Amino acid sequence: MVKKIQIAIDGPAGAGKSTIAKIVAEALQFTYIDTGAMYRAVTYKALNENIQLHDAKSIETMLQNTTITLKPSEQGQIVFVDGQNVSEAIRSNEVTANVSEVAAHANIREILVSMQQKLAADGGVVMDGRDIATHVLKDAELKIFMSATVEERARRRFLDNERRGIPSTIATLQQEIALRDKLDSEREASPLIQADDALFLDTTHLTIEEAAQEIIELAQQKMS
Ligand code: DC
Repeated sequence: MVKKIQIAIDGPAGAGKSTIAKIVAEALQFTYIDTGAMYRAVTYKALNENIQLHDAKSIETMLQNTTITLKPSEQGQIVFVDGQNVSEAIRSNEVTANVSEVAAHANIREILVSMQQKLAADGGVVMDGRDIATHVLKDAELKIFMSATVEERARRRFLDNERRGIPSTIATLQQEIALRDKLDSEREASPLIQADDALFLDTTHLTIEEAAQEIIELAQQKMS
């Protein structure tokens, strides 16, 4: 029987994590888990309920009365909040602009990390986020830290937004990405950093398929 390993993929926004992780998961017949979607789901509900995003305690109370469900599908991961499909809604500009503030709360991270660890407990997962290798799955057999230049990441987000019908400009996206990098890397609770035992993968000049192939080969080596 093939060993069902855990693959942790971390990196900043727009590095290509989710697209590449999805391809890797499909090739290995693993489950893909997008942890950013969970922080987005919490942010989405908090905004809907007019909760002040700096109020970590109120968000925690809200979260204790919330059901977040991730369901793998052909189109990727579907996210439900209290039974409602929010997969598109959590990608709005409003959620994107506010999610770093919510993700900085240690109490919220603790709850979501524990959910993520349960989801990955049986292995056979590709999980992407910011703190997967350093915190959530410290024993993952394969750890990748993926990045690309800010310019390239803004260009990718722009094309992604265009496909989704979300209006944006490359210049604004570049500023937003740089700000989010700063908030995610400098926060006190589990900041975005490369784990000592993670492999660095620069995707600036790689196609999605090339980056995915590299990870698939590394995973196959770990499983053989
Ligand atoms: O990958 P993304 O853009 O969907 O992530 C949304 C936000 O959630 C991002 O600003 C950082 C945060 N995040 C985090 O702090 N830890 C994770 N494991 C995943 C995402």
